[in-house]
Amino acid sequence: MSDLPVLTGAHVRLRPWRPNDAPTIQAACQDPDIQRWTTVPSPYGPGDAEHFLAHRVPGARARGGAAYAVEDLADGSLVGSMTLLHAERGIGEIGYWIAPWARRRGLGADALDTLAAWAFAHRDVHRLELQIEPDNHGSRALAARAGFAEEGLLRGRLVLRGERRDVLMHGRLAP
Ligand SMILES: CC(C)(COP(=O)(O)OP(=O)(O)OC[C@H]1O[C@@H](n2cnc3c(N)ncnc32)[C@H](O)[C@@H]1OP(=O)(O)O)[C@@H](O)C(=O)NCCC(=O)NCCS
Repeated sequence: MSDLPVLTGAHVRLRPWRPNDAPTIQAACQDPDIQRWTTVPSPYGPGDAEHFLAHRVPGARARGGAAYAVEDLADGSLVGSMTLLHAERGIGEIGYWIAPWARRRGLGADALDTLAAWAFAHRDVHRLELQIEPDNHGSRALAARAGFAEEGLLRGRLVLRGERRDVLMHGRLAP
């Protein structure tokens, strides 16, 4: 994972994950919104951050993706997760969270835009997708800010913690 390039946006730096990020991941993932809207375990227990680093990070890599830690450029602190989950046959999908203490400062939108630009340039994708539940207004606003268009409702597209969920497909095409 460490040969991924560091990506610099206007307000964030995207860098490879490090083993000593686990305590911050563990703290951030206690957030009810992260547990509600993403595929992280809920409850988020001891060892889950280490499992993410040991399995989910290389797993994304194996599917043509790239898992990045998001740092606030202002102070270098770890504030989020931005992952190209997979990239196959020209289509990629991104998933993300920003820690509750770092929200509403434009960091998420900058991180998403930065990863998208890199994926178009270096991962041979022509289309990037986000799957967002209709009630996740924060994520929908972030997607719009980062240039993703809402394309329609996919019924039962996501199975999250054993429940089928509808998602609004969002897409951004390569420039
Ligand atoms: C969604 C999330 C990543 C947003 O991160 P963020 O860093 O706070 O987002 P930004 O500050 O870059 O905001 C981008 C835009 O979204 C808006 N926004 C962010 N959170 C919002 C909320 N809860 N409600 C309404 N709008 C919101 C901002 O106002 C901004 O809009 P603007 O450009 O019109 O001003 C963060 O709230 C989060 O981690 N949520 C839980 C996990 C999650 O939902 N992941 C996505 C699953 S699909």
